[in-house]
Amino acid sequence: MSTTHTPVGLKIPLRNLHLAPSKESVHHWFGGDPVGTAVMNALSLTFPDGEKLFIDAVRHFRGAAEGELVEQIRGFIQQESVHAREHETLNRLIDRQRYPGADVISALTRERTNQARERGPMTMLLATIALEHFTAIMADQLLQEDTLSGKVPEDIARLWRWHAVEETEHKAVAFDVYEAVTRDWSGWRRYRLRSLTMLLVSIRFTRHITDYACLLLEDDGYSKREALRAVRRHLWSNPGLFRRGWRTWLAWFKPGFHPWAIATPRAFAAWKAEFDALAG
Ligand SMILES: [Fe+2]
Ligand SMILES: [Fe+2]
Repeated sequence: MSTTHTPVGLKIPLRNLHLAPSKESVHHWFGGDPVGTAVMNALSLTFPDGEKLFIDAVRHFRGAAEGELVEQIRGFIQQESVHAREHETLNRLIDRQRYPGADVISALTRERTNQARERGPMTMLLATIALEHFTAIMADQLLQEDTLSGKVPEDIARLWRWHAVEETEHKAVAFDVYEAVTRDWSGWRRYRLRSLTMLLVSIRFTRHITDYACLLLEDDGYSKREALRAVRRHLWSNPGLFRRGWRTWLAWFKPGFHPWAIATPRAFAAWKAEFDALAG
């Protein structure tokens, strides 16, 4: 059982924002860097189907929830629906003539989420808690280091910042659902299953994002070898999108881990206020 818990009274609000950027902003939007752009676009292309899977996983088990978690599940579903919608809009702005790989990525993501669906709701929920940990790690980095401001068109930066704020807000919802559903299991069984899932999901997720970003870079004229080298450098060395969150990733394997045991970045409150105001 976790020793930390979701803060009492935590609200997960629906902010029905339309934040998709203008078409002019999207080409090599990551500071003019094709590699960073390919990585972020690869992530964005996996979000709509991924987020729909998370929604269905959590929705399936919502009967097991009690107290504030019931409302938080509602907020989670609403937030992820709006994320899927806004990333779909962003993804549509990627020029398919130039980047035919984008459609391949969407099709592969659909196929892979369907495979998870075929394995049933518990597999879906396990995949969700692991991937929500990944998104929380990336959101943390974005909030903590403000990696986008100054080098990215403001409309795109705002979309990712808003997503990061909401991922932080709802980071424990699926986890709390897992705890509620498995409350009659032994601690060891719960721990073993979520840890094994994290190992498996980490291998698959990092490999898929690497492959997807390479596809987009090849559309940019990189050779297969150049693309792989550049993407690996971006993810694991400089800036190290996946490497930098290793401490938080590792924290998952602590018995009694809970997502709220990870400190919230300082910038969170100010950015949350910005989006609360925007949502009116
Ligand atoms: Fe999301
Ligand atoms: Fe999420």
